[in-house]
Amino acid sequence: MTQIISIQNIANYVGEEVMIQGWLYASTGKGKLQFLQVRDGTGIVQAVLFKPNLPEALFDAAKHLPQESALIIRGTVKQNERAPGVPSGYEIDTASLQVVHVSEEYPITPKEHGVEFLLENRHLWIRSRKQWALLRIRATVMRALREWLDKHGFLEMTTPILTPAAGEGTSTLFEVDYFGDKIYLAQTGQLYNEANIYAFGKVYCFGPTFRAEKSKTRRHMTEFWMLEPEIAFCDLDGLMEIEEQLISYVVERCLDERANELQILERDISLLQKIVSPFPRISYDEAVERINKIREETTDVELKKLLEVTWGQDFGSPHESELTKQFDCPIFVYGFPSAAKAFYMEPWPNRPEICKSVDMLAPEGYGEIIGGSERISDLNLLLKRIHEEKLPEEAFKWYLDLRRYGSVVHSGFGLGVERTVAWIAGIHHVRETTPFPRTLGRVYP
Ligand code: 4AD
Ligand code: MG
Repeated sequence: MTQIISIQNIANYVGEEVMIQGWLYASTGKGKLQFLQVRDGTGIVQAVLFKPNLPEALFDAAKHLPQESALIIRGTVKQNERAPGVPSGYEIDTASLQVVHVSEEYPITPKEHGVEFLLENRHLWIRSRKQWALLRIRATVMRALREWLDKHGFLEMTTPILTPAAGEGTSTLFEVDYFGDKIYLAQTGQLYNEANIYAFGKVYCFGPTFRAEKSKTRRHMTEFWMLEPEIAFCDLDGLMEIEEQLISYVVERCLDERANELQILERDISLLQKIVSPFPRISYDEAVERINKIREETTDVELKKLLEVTWGQDFGSPHESELTKQFDCPIFVYGFPSAAKAFYMEPWPNRPEICKSVDMLAPEGYGEIIGGSERISDLNLLLKRIHEEKLPEEAFKWYLDLRRYGSVVHSGFGLGVERTVAWIAGIHHVRETTPFPRTLGRVYP
């Protein structure tokens, strides 16, 4: 029996007869030759059909096969420098062809389609080369994140999606009717991980999170995946070291394993090769100064307006964007005003108006991909913050308990998968970095 192979491993089978199971991506021909581009989910290969080698009726049928028809091809793997495909340089000298399903006329053609049309057909769009490359990079990013954490002594914990309390502000909560009670979809797993560290030391959760974001930007989704490590006996400096090592590792894995995919996306990898830790650390105060300097120096009136900033406000996308353009690596911005950040963040010693928070901003204008902080470990201080933010103390009873029994300095962060993938892959909008995006305007398909 001929072996069924994955196209991604084709280099190992030169000279051998193999079988490929897949779908027709494109087809061209001339005279006695027909070239079928076949994709199997792991790659794309050119199957060469030579008329004298096949039954005449089959050759003629193959010439008119619609795109996306399902095929099983048997043939010999040949090296050919000029053969397109992923990986390139290989083709199949076809001995037999079985048509498993003749596709109906496929709606996504090589011509340009509008993005709304493509999103409406997302269940089909994911088969396209660029989308395929992007989602393979996403899988590598997710695996590399886990790999690094697992290697460094973190334990994966799951945290609930149905939650009785707000973790990240009350303005972006999705309400759920829980048998008559009002509860929410999780905005974060952090608070539960703060409980988990007291049982396991270093933990992370990794799953979908939900925010009723009314903002229609290129960085906001209503459902996104977040990786959230949490570490006992770790301060803000320790946290930044973990973040920069983790991100450098993920970029390195993508460069190693996803070179073909990055090339399909026309990503300038020289920019990714510059991502090595340590990353620059800039205080919020300095960041405000830098933004003001950019404002003074620009002649672009619109940008001047967008970059308006007063001390105390959180940064928006234009601020982050301009700031990151000054650096090759991601940067840390730490010490944000407490009023602009979440209730659980540890105040700065002797400067309670700022807190031990840190955001990581990705270069090339991508902006925030990670938000994190040292957490308040003192019971009374945490109670005070909960009251100041007018949060319901009752819902946080268990969270306050963590400050009663062996409370220690601890820190953690949340990394947004879609924003991280968008940056590494060099894609403009986060919606394409997930198979089935959920945004303000779309929950179909
Ligand atoms: O900065 P955020 O809101 O931090 C937290 O939720 C913390 N509880 C995390 C923690 O410390 N454990 O969100 C973290 C990251 C952001 O930096 C961003 O990458 C991503 O999650 N993110 C979003 N991504 C896509 N769409 C949205 N609406 C997002 N909101 C946050
Ligand atoms: Mg944030």
